[in-house]
Amino acid sequence: MCGIIGIVGLEPVAPRLIDSLKRLEYRGYDSAGVATIEVGRVDRRRASGKLRCLEEVLLAEPLTGQVGIGHTRWATHGAPNLRNAHPQTAGRVTLVHNGIIENFAELKAELIAEGRSFESDTDTEVVAHLIDRGLTHGLTPLNAFRQTLDRLSGAYALAVLIEGENDLVMGARRAMPLVVGHGDGEMFIGSDALAVAPFTNRVSYLEEGDYVAIDHNAARVFDAEGNSVERPVRIVSVSAAMVEKGNYRHFMEKEIHDQPDACQHTLSAYLDPIARRATPPGDFDFNSVDRLQILACGTAFYAGMIGKYVIESLAGLPVDVEVASEFRYRGPALAPRTLAVAISQSGETADTLAALRWCKSKGLKTVAIVNAHESTMAREVDLMWPTHAGQEICVLSTKAFTAQVCALTALAIAAARTRGRIDEVEEQRLVQVLLEAPRLLSEAIASEDVVRSLASMVGRARDVLYLGRGAMFPLAMEGALKLKEVSYIHAEGYAAGEMKHGPIALIDQETPVVVLAPSDSFFDKTMSNLSEVIAREGRVILITDEAGARHAPAEARVILAPACDPLIAPLVFAVPLQLLAYQVGVFKGADVDQPRNLAKSVTVE
Ligand code: M6R
Repeated sequence: MCGIIGIVGLEPVAPRLIDSLKRLEYRGYDSAGVATIEVGRVDRRRASGKLRCLEEVLLAEPLTGQVGIGHTRWATHGAPNLRNAHPQTAGRVTLVHNGIIENFAELKAELIAEGRSFESDTDTEVVAHLIDRGLTHGLTPLNAFRQTLDRLSGAYALAVLIEGENDLVMGARRAMPLVVGHGDGEMFIGSDALAVAPFTNRVSYLEEGDYVAIDHNAARVFDAEGNSVERPVRIVSVSAAMVEKGNYRHFMEKEIHDQPDACQHTLSAYLDPIARRATPPGDFDFNSVDRLQILACGTAFYAGMIGKYVIESLAGLPVDVEVASEFRYRGPALAPRTLAVAISQSGETADTLAALRWCKSKGLKTVAIVNAHESTMAREVDLMWPTHAGQEICVLSTKAFTAQVCALTALAIAAARTRGRIDEVEEQRLVQVLLEAPRLLSEAIASEDVVRSLASMVGRARDVLYLGRGAMFPLAMEGALKLKEVSYIHAEGYAAGEMKHGPIALIDQETPVVVLAPSDSFFDKTMSNLSEVIAREGRVILITDEAGARHAPAEARVILAPACDPLIAPLVFAVPLQLLAYQVGVFKGADVDQPRNLAKSVTVE
């Protein structure tokens, strides 16, 4: 899961490759590299680590070619070191790759038997050798490329330079996205529209199996059978402006603060504030289905679990939620009249996409609750239910999560009304409650100072438990995931009532327990669980509202969240959890926006 870019330009291309790779760094940041061609000769620069390391290499040894390719890597095959960094080279061929070549071992053995030698542990290098072998057999670059693609199993997006070909970059895609950007006397290929956004807003999306040759003036696109095809040029709305941190120290902090806006923006697509009605975009009829099957990964999965709680309780509509990586392989039994609902910030997560495609192949109607409106998921589903969180840069999802919960809550109200579970008056009340969420999210951010004062206590722990009941249970799991990602502290979220069935054995003076307890119908029961922790000398951080705080035992450290209707408590209580993770990350001096081993968009399975 890497980012790739290729440019046939009119000026030295290395700074533009870097600019583009900065936008693609969300796809991985284990190493980076660029190559350009000048007077028929290809030269490359690579560095392990983040892009700034490559920038330093380029400062010391600049590249001046006007045609080039670039790569930012998330390691799959081969350690994240210099020799495995892309571009990879063999003979006349230099290329970058996103994806996994599943039959690389067998191809490598074949090439070694022919006397070829390899300099990396990557799966990618075999592709360069195969193309180069075609060239040495007298094939044209395009034919050598085509013949190579026919030998590959697995997933790829590729960008290729050929020594001696000054006006050519070739690209191909299978199961990984690739777009073509159309400039004036310049052409581009990249992993997504964002990659080419600084240069053009005219983009064609390649289809599965397509390959392409770009030169200064045109893109020649071919389908998997080698037929010349046209892919429509679309004007995309991705802003060329790089999102800035403003006055914030990290994107995570900024994006936590962005949430009132992100939620407001998302809700405006679902709610009519005058009539106080909730309507799904695309006017979906919730009476046309008997069941929802939610598919998602990571944080989006926890949003989906919250969605299940609210949709089932409000609308009486059964909802199954499953992590897509399990669903796609276990042969699930689907009830008729099931609506498949993918939830994804990026719209590119490989497992979610595969699960969605599987549902589609079984004849289910498909919907995506998605933040990237030009993504593969957004384009493949029958209906898009957008979130409007804006671009999320930090690898940890924050504002995309609350935007997803906003959309799901609005959909729950719409489903409840359509299915006759609530009347118009109740719909208006619930819509009013939901409309208040952005203001309350903003008030919740005021807990920042108290949260900061607790960061060192949590930051010194080896393990942290998170407990909640009802919709606070999936939120507890989301809180634990945030802490793990940003601080590398082991954390688990549990249903508070489940603690006595095992996790209670973990409680000691060293283990902070974060208890989520809004003063709702579960409050007394959750407080009993909190007492069980205190009785075992556990250190409790209680996140509650003012009414709840009045019942807090003296031993508990309290983070106050604004009082709110239970409908929006998962939104409001998400904020202190995110802030806690963020502050612990800062306390530990962590790489908050780009934690180790992670990538923003997980496009491998
Ligand atoms: O783009 P998606 O929403 O499909 O991504 C799903 C997960 O990879 C993502 O939520 C991941 O768990 C985040 N790192 C969570 O902070």
